[in-house]
Amino acid sequence: MITIKRLKIVAITMILGFFASVVGVKAQDTAEGEQIFKNNCSTCHAVTDEVVVGPGLKGISQRRPIDWIVKWVHNPQAVIASGDKYAVDLYNKYNKAQMTAYPGYSEAQIKSVIAYIDAQAVAPVAVAGAAPVAGAAAPAEGASNGGMMQYILIALLGVMVLVLIALLSIVSSLTKLASVSPESAEAQKIPLLQRIAENGKKLASNSAFKTGAALLITLLIGKATLDSAYGIGMHQGYAPEQPIQFSHKLHAGQYEINCNYCHTGVYKGKGANIPSANICMNCHNAIKRESPEIQKIYRSLEKDEPIQWVRVHNLPDLAYFNHAQHTNVGGLECTNCHGEIAKMEVVQQRSSLTMGWCIDCHRKTEVNAKGNAYYDKLVELHNTEHKGNMKVQDIGGLECSKCHY
Ligand code: HEC
Ligand code: HEC
Ligand code: HEC
Ligand code: HEC
Ligand code: HEC
Ligand code: HEC
Repeated sequence: MITIKRLKIVAITMILGFFASVVGVKAQDTAEGEQIFKNNCSTCHAVTDEVVVGPGLKGISQRRPIDWIVKWVHNPQAVIASGDKYAVDLYNKYNKAQMTAYPGYSEAQIKSVIAYIDAQAVAPVAVAGAAPVAGAAAPAEGASNGGMMQYILIALLGVMVLVLIALLSIVSSLTKLASVSPESAEAQKIPLLQRIAENGKKLASNSAFKTGAALLITLLIGKATLDSAYGIGMHQGYAPEQPIQFSHKLHAGQYEINCNYCHTGVYKGKGANIPSANICMNCHNAIKRESPEIQKIYRSLEKDEPIQWVRVHNLPDLAYFNHAQHTNVGGLECTNCHGEIAKMEVVQQRSSLTMGWCIDCHRKTEVNAKGNAYYDKLVELHNTEHKGNMKVQDIGGLECSKCHY
């Protein structure tokens, strides 16, 4: 006869194994892949067989070797130019549509995109297979979403734990019944519910069970923490594809055009402003007229529709931020907050833009009071009362109302 102890060990191993498989979905870091895919590739590719601008990417990891995919994503035109037959045929098949090059993504990042695409292909099948076991969790509409699948798996896990507890108490009741003793005859008279409750108590004091439960809870908390950490980092690193492939590296870097030539509000207003197509036309009515990217500027002007630039940095409405205060009065460089924009092909959000980030700088940064008569009195006052230099926090940079309406 199977002893209770062995049964418990088997059950706990099962749960842990099951949990490992849940965590495994995350381990391939499909989350990063998903983000990269949605920000860059999904305008032209679906994760299914469906053709958007380019081919559907379902099964791409079987179709092409990973080295090839990496080379391709880094520079499709170079692969085509090298005479690679597959690439040339594909290029012709898609009417010589040019795929954007992504030289900036590492091999690991491209692999995470592929892992995400593969996960999308298996996700719906796995959910459909698992659902009948639970009986309750029907596969939700559009469950191809990896996040949804994880929730279902976790729900299943919960159900399994309950089933396990019930099973263990039944087994333990049965064992008692089997061993003939006056006590067990007594036990038969005790109502079933009460017996289950008693066995539940015993179970709760069993050390193997306790360890198992503690492990489970730790893992769940760990997972929740990880997920929220992903959430916080969501916007940092955000680099959406823009409707026109405008390069800061070319304009602000190589051609050294001043930031405020285009971002006209940055030294004098709250917002920096995104330039209108007219500003582009100052140069592009003559430069590179034939380029398809420049043609898009003309089209926007002809149709009188502004270019739909995708916003990168975006504070929630509850916060007030003023550029002039920081660039002009504070004397800060753009790089302090935006990183090396002049080296970026595609603008990326480099700072977290959280409240903690603002506050941290206000604690550390000295007020730029030189040559600013407005501050002379304040500095004088500060120096009589404090030792260190006057920081932003000393002029009210930590007051809630300064940043919140
Ligand atoms: C502007 C549209 C566009 C974007 C954005 C784009 N692609 Fe493509 N992709 C294409 C086109 C079009 C093709 C077909 C070949 C061609 O015409 O150059 C292609 C082909 C591919 C192929 C080969 C497919 C096959 O069936 O063999 C892979 C892999 C690929 N792209 C991956 C990516 C990844 C990964 C991203 C995002 C990082 C991406 N693409 C972004 C347009 C795009
Ligand atoms: C020739 C015009 C031009 C110049 C010069 C220029 N930019 Fe831009 N900038 C743009 C356009 C157009 C966009 C919107 C498209 C994009 O994000 O690439 C933009 C976007 C940005 C963004 C992101 C805006 C958002 O949506 O959050 C930042 C930050 C930025 N620029 C900073 C700079 C800095 C710093 C410099 C100087 C080193 C600079 N820019 C120079 C035209 C310009
Ligand atoms: C002060 C002049 C100037 C302004 C203003 C300007 N550009 Fe440019 N742009 C250039 C120069 C110079 C080149 C490089 C041309 C070359 O490679 O021969 C260029 C190249 C480009 C290219 C690459 C074209 C290609 O196919 O190689 C794009 C896209 C572009 N600019 C978009 C814009 C947009 C959008 C704006 C407005 C937000 C803008 N530019 C404003 C000077 C300017
Ligand atoms: C103290 C930090 C800081 C400095 C310095 C700074 N920015 Fe910003 N920038 C921000 C924040 C925060 C946002 C988001 C604002 C929002 O969403 O309201 C932003 C947004 C932008 C945008 C998007 C459009 C807008 O106005 O919201 C552009 C363009 C931009 N900055 C350009 C610049 C340029 C160019 C410089 C340098 C001359 C600069 N920034 C200096 C923090 C800074
Ligand atoms: C890189 C450092 C830095 C960061 C990051 C920064 N600030 Fe500042 N901030 C300053 C400096 C320096 C001043 C002082 C400017 C002056 O001399 O008035 C200042 C001043 C201010 C003031 C005026 C305070 C007063 O008492 O007059 C406000 C409001 C403000 N910042 C809001 C923000 C918000 C909101 C953010 C985040 C989105 C932010 N700042 C991020 C450096 C920073
Ligand atoms: C230097 C600027 C600054 C100061 C000072 C400041 N905040 Fe904020 N706060 C922000 C920014 C920027 C955000 C939005 C970014 C974020 O959610 O992290 C924010 C977000 C918040 C939120 C929303 C948080 C959320 O998760 O949505 C609350 C609540 C808040 N602040 C309360 C306060 C209180 C209370 C104070 C005074 C003790 C204060 N703030 C002082 C800049 C500031």
